[in-house]
Amino acid sequence: MKFIAKTQEDYQKLYNASVQNPQDFWAEFAETNFIWQRKWDKVLDYNFEKAHFRWFEGAKLNITQNCIDRHLPEKAAQTALIFEPNDPNEEAQHISYATLAENVNKTANLLKNLGVQKGDRVCIYLPMIPELAYSVLACARIGAVHSVVFAGFSAQSLADRINDASCKVLITADGGFRGNKTTPLFDIATQALQQCTSIEHLLMVKRCNNVSENDWHKHQQVLPAIKFSFWEKMFAAASAHCPPVWVDAEDPLFILYTSGSTGKPKGMVHTSGGYMVYTNFTFCNVFQYQAGDVYWCTADIGWITGHSYILYGPLSAGATTLMFEGVPSYPDMGRFWQVIEKHKVNIFYTAPTAIRALEQADISFVEKYDLRSLKTLGTVGEPINVEAWEWYNKYIGKNNCPIVDTWWQTETGGIMISNLAGVTPQIPTFATLPLPGVQACLLDENGKEISHLPAEGKLCIKYPWPSMARTIYGNHQRFVDTYFSAFKGYYFTGDGCRCDVQGNFRITGRVDDIVIVSGHNLGTAEIENAINQHPNIIESAVVGFPHAIKGNAIYAFVSCLHKPENEALLQKEIAASVSELIGPIAKPDKIQVCYALPKTRSGKIMRRILRKIAAGEFDSFGDISTLLNPECVAEIIKGAK
Ligand code: PRX
Repeated sequence: MKFIAKTQEDYQKLYNASVQNPQDFWAEFAETNFIWQRKWDKVLDYNFEKAHFRWFEGAKLNITQNCIDRHLPEKAAQTALIFEPNDPNEEAQHISYATLAENVNKTANLLKNLGVQKGDRVCIYLPMIPELAYSVLACARIGAVHSVVFAGFSAQSLADRINDASCKVLITADGGFRGNKTTPLFDIATQALQQCTSIEHLLMVKRCNNVSENDWHKHQQVLPAIKFSFWEKMFAAASAHCPPVWVDAEDPLFILYTSGSTGKPKGMVHTSGGYMVYTNFTFCNVFQYQAGDVYWCTADIGWITGHSYILYGPLSAGATTLMFEGVPSYPDMGRFWQVIEKHKVNIFYTAPTAIRALEQADISFVEKYDLRSLKTLGTVGEPINVEAWEWYNKYIGKNNCPIVDTWWQTETGGIMISNLAGVTPQIPTFATLPLPGVQACLLDENGKEISHLPAEGKLCIKYPWPSMARTIYGNHQRFVDTYFSAFKGYYFTGDGCRCDVQGNFRITGRVDDIVIVSGHNLGTAEIENAINQHPNIIESAVVGFPHAIKGNAIYAFVSCLHKPENEALLQKEIAASVSELIGPIAKPDKIQVCYALPKTRSGKIMRRILRKIAAGEFDSFGDISTLLNPECVAEIIKGAK
């Protein structure tokens, strides 16, 4: 079977085959596209109620053999990884597949020299530098389990994650460059380690030269049980020969923490075989990658998007993938577009939050650069509002690049619902159709599947797919309770969704974000979409608050491009726009202008906090230190009182 759809008909054929006989479908794709040291005994074993899922049981493989070694005969000299530094004046690095092999092997030997063995957990707290990619792949090379913690997290968040997974080694850097700031990663890491007992070794990469010898020794004295080493020294001494360790398809490949909106972060566990198969399949189909293309995903490797679509998906496909150390606004708002011009990027994948921010800058920042290399654009992370979609299409894609709107989650490991670039139709704000192998459906309040379209309901998946998370590290019951208990026999995504008559899916936001006003279910994403059409609005967050008559009413927090001269007028205009686009029922009762909205480090608006403020609860927010901008919370409370 041909596994990469080139026409809509191909897509339909693949989809039908994947539903009629999912196990044969995935077995054939896995067998013909990857190297397995030993073939599986059974394609799939599963039980939804117990949240038991095993793909390719009995197979032996190493994902780095598939991401690196197998490309060497033909692609040794091809660039695997382009590293674009934070500072545009620092030279970019083009790392070939041969060099990647060498550096990953050296890093793997380095880890072995520290005593890391198959199954050990290694915490990686690094900025977006090549050593981050080497470390991740080196863990995979020797069967160790990587747990990457985003380098913007605090000491407390890092300590919690290290402790939860009992990591043995911590790899960090002296510091990280992000825009005009230097994050003191070594200081944060050593602060975290004061609360950790599992770490035996700290390894530090030099990036910013901001740790003096004195600091180094001082910190070492505070942590006498931990051995400190410099990356550079050990790396230089390590051998470049490191045969891959064969792991079982179901052995854990990594743990990645997802915060969710409440409670303790969940350490999602992903395994080797199914994850490799699915990230490769989706990368090739969704982005329609062609040999020679330069592909750039702007996410951080600290998030699932970076794991699956900077590293494993592209590398397993032999692609050239770009990693960027900096931020979109440094040295100015044209940085993304400059990087696209510089490296002749063909496929560009980013988040709505970035698009909305860049849309506010003067258009000359875009027009200054030659973006003709672009063929395909993508978005991920949140529902994209129409205005941002149109701007992206017009100014970045020049009305000439398909935009893939990819819906998925940390838990799903890979893209689940998306159009395929230039192959299946795009519809602004719709993720559109499920990928082959994804049996997506909508359930009503009683857990019944809705078959009559158009429909609205809770988005669920009714058959296992290869890259699904297998458990929450150390807490399988929480895994069962969170995802498999609400609806028996289904994976519950937590998202609300709408489906048009053609079966196109449109995510309406987290179900916790649905507000019921006078008995009508209103998706907050849709109301935000309407509000964001106002020329002075950058972004908005809509929540419900208790209302004596309606049950709930709508409270909109908005951030503006310019401070409005007449707030009452702005509110009136917003209300009129919502009324017109959705209906008077969705009109906000309150509209509060804020200078910024509270966001998680991955750019998602923290509605949990806004919901409390809207309800007049001005304290007990829990830990807000992990927010990107905790300082805005006090400001918003002031405005709400
Ligand atoms: O609500 C959906 C939203 O992001 C959630 C998953 O977040 P996370 O695990 O951090 O993974 C983000 C990167 C895969 C989903 O439950 N979401 C993600 N992509 C989209 C989206 N909402 C609408 N449209 C999308 N394309």
